[in-house]
Amino acid sequence: MAIVISGVGEWTPPYSITNAELVASYNAYADRYNAANDAAIARGELEAKPHSSVEFIEKASGIKTRFAYQKDGILDPDCMRPRIARRSEDELSHQAEMSLHAAAKALAAANKTGADIDMVIVSCAYTERSYPAIAIEVQHALGIAGFGFDMLVACSAATFALQRAHDALAAGSARGVLVINPELTSPQVNYCDRDSHFIFGDVATAVVLEDERTCTAQHSYRILGTRAITQYSNNIRSNFGYVARAEGGDPFDAERLFHQNGRKVFKEVCPLAADHLEAQVAAVGLSVSDIRRWWLHQANLNMNQLITRKLLGTDPTHDVAPIVLDRYANTASAGSIVAFAHHHEDLRAGDYGVICSFGAGYSIGSLAIQKR
Ligand SMILES: CC(C)(COP(=O)(O)OP(=O)(O)OC[C@H]1O[C@@H](n2cnc3c(N)ncnc32)[C@H](O)[C@@H]1OP(=O)(O)O)[C@@H](O)C(=O)NCCC(=O)NCCS
Repeated sequence: MAIVISGVGEWTPPYSITNAELVASYNAYADRYNAANDAAIARGELEAKPHSSVEFIEKASGIKTRFAYQKDGILDPDCMRPRIARRSEDELSHQAEMSLHAAAKALAAANKTGADIDMVIVSCAYTERSYPAIAIEVQHALGIAGFGFDMLVACSAATFALQRAHDALAAGSARGVLVINPELTSPQVNYCDRDSHFIFGDVATAVVLEDERTCTAQHSYRILGTRAITQYSNNIRSNFGYVARAEGGDPFDAERLFHQNGRKVFKEVCPLAADHLEAQVAAVGLSVSDIRRWWLHQANLNMNQLITRKLLGTDPTHDVAPIVLDRYANTASAGSIVAFAHHHEDLRAGDYGVICSFGAGYSIGSLAIQKR
Protein backbone atom coordinates (compact mmCIF):
# COMPACT_ATOMS: atom_id res chain seq x y z
CA MET A 1 0.00 0.00 0.00
CA ALA A 2 1.42 3.38 -1.02
CA ILE A 3 0.59 6.70 0.62
CA VAL A 4 0.45 9.77 -1.62
CA ILE A 5 0.44 13.52 -1.36
CA SER A 6 -2.51 14.32 -3.60
CA GLY A 7 -3.04 18.05 -3.06
CA VAL A 8 -1.25 21.11 -1.82
CA GLY A 9 -2.61 24.62 -1.23
CA GLU A 10 -1.30 27.92 -0.01
CA TRP A 11 -2.90 31.07 1.30
CA THR A 12 -0.84 34.25 1.14
CA PRO A 13 -1.87 37.21 3.29
CA PRO A 14 -2.83 40.39 1.41
CA TYR A 15 -0.10 42.62 2.88
CA SER A 16 3.54 42.65 1.83
CA ILE A 17 6.33 44.53 3.65
CA THR A 18 9.62 45.44 1.95
CA ASN A 19 12.98 45.56 3.71
CA ALA A 20 13.05 49.34 3.11
CA GLU A 21 9.72 49.80 4.91
CA LEU A 22 10.77 47.62 7.82
CA VAL A 23 14.18 49.28 8.18
CA ALA A 24 12.64 52.77 8.08
CA SER A 25 10.24 51.97 10.94
CA TYR A 26 12.95 50.17 12.96
CA ASN A 27 15.39 53.08 12.53
CA ALA A 28 12.71 55.61 13.54
CA TYR A 29 12.00 53.48 16.62
CA ALA A 30 15.77 53.23 17.43
CA ASP A 31 16.23 57.01 17.07
CA ARG A 32 13.33 57.65 19.45
CA TYR A 33 14.67 55.08 21.92
CA ASN A 34 18.16 56.61 21.82
CA ALA A 35 16.80 60.16 22.24
CA ALA A 36 14.57 59.11 25.15
CA ASN A 37 17.49 57.36 26.87
CA ASP A 38 20.37 59.67 25.93
CA ALA A 39 21.47 60.33 29.54
CA ALA A 40 21.56 56.62 30.47
CA ILE A 41 23.34 55.83 27.20
CA ALA A 42 25.92 58.61 27.92
CA ARG A 43 26.50 57.14 31.42
CA GLY A 44 27.04 53.70 29.86
CA GLU A 45 24.02 52.20 31.62
CA LEU A 46 22.18 51.44 28.39
CA GLU A 47 23.44 50.60 24.93
CA ALA A 48 22.36 52.82 22.04
CA LYS A 49 20.38 50.96 19.39
CA PRO A 50 22.30 50.96 16.07
CA HIS A 51 20.47 51.31 12.77
CA SER A 52 19.33 48.34 10.71
CA SER A 53 20.15 48.20 6.99
CA VAL A 54 18.48 46.92 3.84
CA GLU A 55 21.87 45.88 2.41
CA PHE A 56 22.71 43.79 5.51
CA ILE A 57 19.35 42.02 5.49
CA GLU A 58 19.52 41.08 1.83
CA LYS A 59 23.16 39.97 1.96
CA ALA A 60 22.89 38.04 5.26
CA SER A 61 19.54 36.34 4.54
CA GLY A 62 18.42 36.74 0.91
CA ILE A 63 15.09 38.13 2.17
CA LYS A 64 13.59 41.05 0.21
CA THR A 65 9.95 41.11 1.31
CA ARG A 66 7.59 39.24 3.62
CA PHE A 67 3.81 38.87 3.89
CA ALA A 68 1.89 39.93 6.97
CA TYR A 69 -1.56 38.90 8.18
CA GLN A 70 -1.99 42.52 9.35
CA LYS A 71 0.41 45.25 8.29
CA ASP A 72 -1.12 47.89 10.53
CA GLY A 73 1.05 48.40 13.62
CA ILE A 74 4.21 46.65 12.43
CA LEU A 75 5.48 49.80 10.69
CA ASP A 76 4.33 52.22 13.39
CA PRO A 77 7.36 53.16 15.58
CA ASP A 78 4.94 53.65 18.50
CA CYS A 79 3.54 50.12 18.15
CA MET A 80 6.11 47.75 16.55
CA ARG A 81 3.74 44.75 16.47
CA PRO A 82 0.78 43.80 14.27
CA ARG A 83 -2.57 45.13 15.42
CA ILE A 84 -4.86 42.10 15.21
CA ALA A 85 -8.46 42.58 16.32
CA ARG A 86 -9.54 40.23 19.09
CA ARG A 87 -12.33 37.90 17.99
CA SER A 88 -15.24 36.69 20.06
CA GLU A 89 -15.61 33.02 20.93
CA ASP A 90 -18.41 32.77 18.37
CA GLU A 91 -16.20 33.95 15.51
CA LEU A 92 -13.71 31.92 13.50
CA SER A 93 -10.23 32.23 15.00
CA HIS A 94 -7.48 33.87 12.96
CA GLN A 95 -5.52 30.66 12.44
CA ALA A 96 -8.67 28.68 11.59
CA GLU A 97 -9.49 31.30 8.96
CA MET A 98 -5.97 31.09 7.48
CA SER A 99 -6.23 27.29 7.59
CA LEU A 100 -9.54 27.20 5.75
CA HIS A 101 -8.19 29.32 2.89
CA ALA A 102 -5.23 26.95 2.37
CA ALA A 103 -7.30 23.80 2.98
CA ALA A 104 -9.84 24.74 0.29
CA LYS A 105 -7.05 24.91 -2.30
CA ALA A 106 -5.41 21.66 -1.19
CA LEU A 107 -8.75 19.80 -1.23
CA ALA A 108 -9.56 21.17 -4.71
CA ALA A 109 -6.14 20.10 -6.02
CA ALA A 110 -6.73 16.60 -4.59
CA ASN A 111 -10.30 16.36 -6.01
CA LYS A 112 -11.52 15.81 -2.48
CA THR A 113 -14.08 17.26 -0.06
CA GLY A 114 -14.36 17.20 3.71
CA ALA A 115 -16.24 13.89 3.36
CA ASP A 116 -13.01 12.21 2.17
CA ILE A 117 -11.02 13.38 5.22
CA ASP A 118 -11.14 11.83 8.68
CA MET A 119 -8.03 13.33 10.33
CA VAL A 120 -7.00 16.98 10.54
CA ILE A 121 -3.61 18.05 11.87
CA VAL A 122 -2.91 21.75 12.41
CA SER A 123 0.83 21.93 12.86
CA CYS A 124 2.83 25.12 13.17
CA ALA A 125 5.31 27.10 15.25
CA TYR A 126 2.68 28.80 17.46
CA THR A 127 -1.04 28.39 18.08
CA GLU A 128 -3.11 31.34 19.23
CA ARG A 129 -4.75 29.39 22.07
CA SER A 130 -4.40 26.10 23.92
CA TYR A 131 -7.87 24.69 23.35
CA PRO A 132 -10.15 23.84 21.73
CA ALA A 133 -7.56 22.78 19.15
CA ILE A 134 -7.51 24.92 16.00
CA ALA A 135 -7.66 21.61 14.11
CA ILE A 136 -11.01 20.75 15.70
CA GLU A 137 -12.37 24.19 14.77
CA VAL A 138 -11.25 23.59 11.17
CA GLN A 139 -12.71 20.07 11.24
CA HIS A 140 -16.04 21.50 12.40
CA ALA A 141 -16.03 24.26 9.76
CA LEU A 142 -15.40 21.71 6.98
CA GLY A 143 -17.92 19.17 8.32
CA ILE A 144 -15.26 16.49 8.67
CA ALA A 145 -16.03 13.36 10.69
CA GLY A 146 -13.20 11.80 12.67
CA PHE A 147 -10.66 13.74 14.68
CA GLY A 148 -8.17 16.60 14.71
CA PHE A 149 -5.36 17.84 16.89
CA ASP A 150 -2.72 20.58 16.99
CA MET A 151 1.03 20.00 16.93
CA LEU A 152 3.93 22.38 17.66
CA VAL A 153 7.41 21.58 16.32
CA ALA A 154 8.62 25.07 15.34
CA CYS A 155 10.11 25.10 11.82
CA SER A 156 9.68 21.34 11.38
CA ALA A 157 5.99 21.32 12.29
CA ALA A 158 4.91 20.68 8.68
CA THR A 159 7.25 17.79 7.86
CA PHE A 160 6.72 16.17 11.25
CA ALA A 161 2.94 16.38 10.74
CA LEU A 162 3.27 14.89 7.25
CA GLN A 163 5.13 11.99 8.83
CA ARG A 164 2.33 11.58 11.42
CA ALA A 165 -0.22 11.63 8.57
CA HIS A 166 1.74 9.08 6.55
CA ASP A 167 2.03 6.74 9.53
CA ALA A 168 -1.69 7.03 10.40
CA LEU A 169 -2.66 6.16 6.82
CA ALA A 170 -0.18 3.28 6.71
CA ALA A 171 -1.52 1.95 10.02
CA GLY A 172 -5.13 2.25 8.85
CA SER A 173 -6.13 4.71 11.60
CA ALA A 174 -7.08 7.29 8.95
CA ARG A 175 -8.14 7.14 5.30
CA GLY A 176 -7.72 10.79 4.32
CA VAL A 177 -5.59 13.38 6.16
CA LEU A 178 -5.47 17.15 5.94
CA VAL A 179 -2.26 18.67 7.30
CA ILE A 180 -2.44 22.46 7.71
CA ASN A 181 0.25 24.96 8.69
CA PRO A 182 -1.26 28.36 9.55
CA GLU A 183 2.02 30.16 10.26
CA LEU A 184 0.97 33.37 11.98
CA THR A 185 4.50 34.31 13.03
CA SER A 186 4.29 38.12 13.15
CA PRO A 187 2.85 38.41 16.71
CA GLN A 188 5.97 36.61 18.05
CA VAL A 189 8.50 38.73 16.12
CA ASN A 190 10.35 41.36 18.13
CA TYR A 191 10.25 44.23 15.61
CA CYS A 192 12.42 46.24 18.08
CA ASP A 193 15.30 43.74 17.72
CA ARG A 194 17.69 44.60 14.88
CA ASP A 195 19.03 41.03 14.73
CA SER A 196 15.67 39.42 14.01
CA HIS A 197 13.07 42.05 12.97
CA PHE A 198 13.40 41.07 9.30
CA ILE A 199 13.33 37.27 9.53
CA PHE A 200 9.69 36.14 9.51
CA GLY A 201 6.57 36.32 7.38
CA ASP A 202 3.02 34.95 7.64
CA VAL A 203 1.44 32.33 5.34
CA ALA A 204 -0.74 29.19 5.52
CA THR A 205 -0.19 25.92 3.68
CA ALA A 206 -2.21 22.70 3.50
CA VAL A 207 -1.54 19.20 2.17
CA VAL A 208 -3.90 16.28 1.51
CA LEU A 209 -2.59 12.73 1.97
CA GLU A 210 -4.38 9.51 1.13
CA ASP A 211 -4.02 5.91 -0.02
CA GLU A 212 -2.81 5.71 -3.63
CA ARG A 213 -5.90 3.64 -4.53
CA THR A 214 -8.29 6.52 -3.78
CA CYS A 215 -6.19 9.19 -5.48
CA THR A 216 -7.66 10.96 -8.52
CA ALA A 217 -5.51 14.11 -8.45
CA GLN A 218 -3.79 15.43 -11.56
CA HIS A 219 -0.49 15.85 -9.68
CA SER A 220 0.33 13.36 -6.95
CA TYR A 221 3.46 12.08 -5.24
CA ARG A 222 4.12 8.66 -3.73
CA ILE A 223 5.85 8.94 -0.36
CA LEU A 224 8.93 6.71 -0.44
CA GLY A 225 10.23 7.48 3.04
CA THR A 226 9.94 9.89 5.95
CA ARG A 227 12.53 10.89 8.52
CA ALA A 228 12.48 13.04 11.67
CA ILE A 229 15.23 13.88 14.12
CA THR A 230 15.56 16.28 17.04
CA GLN A 231 18.58 17.44 19.02
CA TYR A 232 18.21 19.84 21.95
CA SER A 233 19.56 23.35 21.45
CA ASN A 234 19.08 26.67 23.26
CA ASN A 235 20.09 28.71 20.22
CA ILE A 236 16.56 29.44 18.96
CA ARG A 237 13.93 30.23 21.57
CA SER A 238 10.42 31.60 22.00
CA ASN A 239 9.61 31.62 25.72
CA PHE A 240 6.09 32.97 25.81
CA GLY A 241 3.68 30.52 27.41
CA TYR A 242 0.82 30.27 29.86
CA VAL A 243 3.12 30.16 32.91
CA ALA A 244 4.22 33.74 32.09
CA ARG A 245 1.17 35.03 33.94
CA ALA A 246 2.25 33.29 37.14
CA GLU A 247 5.89 34.29 36.82
CA GLY A 248 5.16 38.02 36.96
CA GLY A 249 6.88 40.71 34.92
CA ASP A 250 6.07 41.48 31.32
CA PRO A 251 4.85 38.31 29.58
CA PHE A 252 5.85 39.89 26.24
CA ASP A 253 9.36 41.15 27.06
CA ALA A 254 12.20 40.52 24.60
CA GLU A 255 13.17 37.27 26.33
CA ARG A 256 9.70 35.85 25.67
CA LEU A 257 9.66 36.72 21.96
CA PHE A 258 11.60 34.98 19.19
CA HIS A 259 15.37 35.33 19.61
CA GLN A 260 18.28 33.31 18.41
CA ASN A 261 22.02 33.03 18.12
CA GLY A 262 21.83 33.12 14.33
CA ARG A 263 25.50 32.51 13.65
CA LYS A 264 25.56 29.36 15.83
CA VAL A 265 22.30 28.13 14.27
CA PHE A 266 23.78 28.60 10.83
CA LYS A 267 26.98 26.69 11.69
CA GLU A 268 25.30 23.84 13.57
CA VAL A 269 22.17 23.25 11.49
CA CYS A 270 23.77 23.24 8.00
CA PRO A 271 25.88 20.06 8.55
CA LEU A 272 23.00 18.40 10.45
CA ALA A 273 20.60 19.07 7.57
CA ALA A 274 23.08 17.92 4.89
CA ASP A 275 23.76 14.65 6.77
CA HIS A 276 20.04 14.12 7.34
CA LEU A 277 19.27 14.59 3.65
CA GLU A 278 22.04 12.23 2.59
CA ALA A 279 20.72 9.59 5.00
CA GLN A 280 17.13 10.11 3.82
CA VAL A 281 18.04 9.63 0.17
CA ALA A 282 20.17 6.54 0.93
CA ALA A 283 17.40 5.04 3.08
CA VAL A 284 15.07 4.90 0.06
CA GLY A 285 17.77 3.36 -2.15
CA LEU A 286 18.66 6.52 -4.10
CA SER A 287 21.68 8.75 -4.41
CA VAL A 288 21.65 12.56 -4.32
CA SER A 289 22.14 12.76 -8.08
CA ASP A 290 18.80 10.93 -8.54
CA ILE A 291 16.90 13.79 -6.91
CA ARG A 292 15.25 16.06 -9.45
CA ARG A 293 14.17 18.72 -6.94
CA TRP A 294 14.91 19.75 -3.33
CA TRP A 295 12.13 21.70 -1.60
CA LEU A 296 14.12 22.97 1.34
CA HIS A 297 13.21 24.96 4.44
CA GLN A 298 13.24 28.67 3.64
CA ALA A 299 15.08 30.54 6.39
CA ASN A 300 18.24 31.84 4.79
CA LEU A 301 19.50 31.77 1.21
CA ASN A 302 23.14 31.29 2.26
CA MET A 303 22.14 28.35 4.44
CA ASN A 304 20.30 26.61 1.58
CA GLN A 305 23.20 27.22 -0.79
CA LEU A 306 25.68 25.78 1.71
CA ILE A 307 23.55 22.68 2.32
CA THR A 308 22.94 21.95 -1.36
CA ARG A 309 26.58 22.66 -2.24
CA LYS A 310 27.64 20.16 0.45
CA LEU A 311 25.20 17.60 -0.98
CA LEU A 312 25.63 18.11 -4.71
CA GLY A 313 29.15 19.52 -4.91
CA THR A 314 27.91 22.42 -7.05
CA ASP A 315 25.71 25.48 -6.67
CA PRO A 316 22.14 24.38 -7.37
CA THR A 317 19.95 26.21 -9.86
CA HIS A 318 16.56 27.63 -8.87
CA ASP A 319 15.08 24.72 -10.82
CA VAL A 320 16.84 22.12 -8.64
CA ALA A 321 16.39 23.87 -5.27
CA PRO A 322 13.74 26.58 -5.62
CA ILE A 323 13.90 29.63 -3.37
CA VAL A 324 10.80 31.47 -2.17
CA LEU A 325 12.26 33.16 0.91
CA ASP A 326 13.15 36.26 -1.09
CA ARG A 327 9.39 37.07 -1.29
CA TYR A 328 8.08 35.19 1.75
CA ALA A 329 10.97 35.43 4.27
CA ASN A 330 11.06 32.62 6.85
CA THR A 331 7.50 31.32 7.23
CA ALA A 332 8.51 28.84 9.94
CA SER A 333 7.34 25.32 9.05
CA ALA A 334 5.47 26.37 5.91
CA GLY A 335 8.56 27.38 3.89
CA SER A 336 9.36 24.04 2.24
CA ILE A 337 5.64 23.50 1.54
CA VAL A 338 5.37 26.93 -0.13
CA ALA A 339 8.37 25.97 -2.29
CA PHE A 340 6.63 22.66 -3.11
CA ALA A 341 3.29 24.37 -3.82
CA HIS A 342 4.92 26.76 -6.31
CA HIS A 343 7.26 24.29 -7.97
CA HIS A 344 5.89 20.76 -8.34
CA GLU A 345 3.58 20.53 -11.33
CA ASP A 346 6.39 20.49 -13.92
CA LEU A 347 7.93 17.26 -12.56
CA ARG A 348 7.50 14.22 -14.82
CA ALA A 349 6.18 10.82 -13.73
CA GLY A 350 9.02 8.96 -12.04
CA ASP A 351 10.95 12.09 -10.97
CA TYR A 352 12.22 12.07 -7.39
CA GLY A 353 12.13 14.94 -4.93
CA VAL A 354 12.80 15.68 -1.27
CA ILE A 355 10.88 18.03 1.05
CA CYS A 356 12.98 19.05 4.08
CA SER A 357 12.68 21.44 7.02
CA PHE A 358 15.17 22.41 9.72
CA GLY A 359 14.93 24.75 12.66
CA ALA A 360 14.32 25.27 16.35
CA GLY A 361 14.62 22.36 18.71
CA TYR A 362 16.77 21.62 16.77
CA SER A 363 14.39 19.64 14.58
CA ILE A 364 14.86 18.27 11.07
CA GLY A 365 12.19 16.48 9.06
CA SER A 366 12.04 15.20 5.49
CA LEU A 367 10.06 13.18 2.98
CA ALA A 368 11.42 11.49 -0.12
CA ILE A 369 8.71 11.47 -2.80
CA GLN A 370 8.20 10.36 -6.41
CA LYS A 371 5.87 11.91 -8.96
CA ARG A 372 3.21 9.47 -10.16
C1 LIG B 1 20.19 35.78 11.38
C2 LIG B 1 21.24 35.83 10.28
C3 LIG B 1 20.60 36.28 8.98
C4 LIG B 1 22.32 36.84 10.66
O1 LIG B 1 23.33 36.83 9.68
P1 LIG B 1 24.87 36.73 10.11
O2 LIG B 1 25.64 36.80 8.87
O3 LIG B 1 25.02 35.50 10.95
O4 LIG B 1 25.09 38.03 10.92
P2 LIG B 1 25.56 38.20 12.45
O5 LIG B 1 24.40 37.91 13.35
O6 LIG B 1 26.85 37.47 12.66
O7 LIG B 1 25.81 39.74 12.47
C5 LIG B 1 26.88 40.37 11.74
C6 LIG B 1 26.93 41.84 12.13
O8 LIG B 1 25.80 42.50 11.57
C7 LIG B 1 25.08 43.18 12.59
N1 LIG B 1 23.64 43.16 12.31
C8 LIG B 1 22.72 42.31 12.77
N2 LIG B 1 21.50 42.64 12.32
C9 LIG B 1 21.65 43.71 11.54
C10 LIG B 1 20.76 44.51 10.79
N3 LIG B 1 19.45 44.25 10.76
N4 LIG B 1 21.26 45.55 10.08
C11 LIG B 1 22.57 45.84 10.11
N5 LIG B 1 23.47 45.11 10.82
C12 LIG B 1 23.02 44.06 11.52
C13 LIG B 1 25.41 42.39 13.85
O9 LIG B 1 25.21 43.18 15.01
C14 LIG B 1 26.86 42.06 13.62
O10 LIG B 1 27.65 43.18 13.93
P3 LIG B 1 29.10 43.01 14.61
O11 LIG B 1 29.89 42.19 13.63
O12 LIG B 1 29.55 44.40 14.77
O13 LIG B 1 28.84 42.27 15.89
C15 LIG B 1 21.88 34.46 10.06
O14 LIG B 1 22.76 34.15 11.12
C16 LIG B 1 20.87 33.34 9.95
O15 LIG B 1 19.96 33.38 9.16
N6 LIG B 1 21.08 32.28 10.71
C17 LIG B 1 20.24 31.11 10.65
C18 LIG B 1 19.01 31.41 11.39
C19 LIG B 1 17.93 30.43 11.16
O16 LIG B 1 17.81 29.78 10.18
N7 LIG B 1 17.11 30.33 12.13
C20 LIG B 1 16.01 29.49 12.05
C21 LIG B 1 14.90 30.17 12.67
S1 LIG B 1 13.62 29.05 12.79
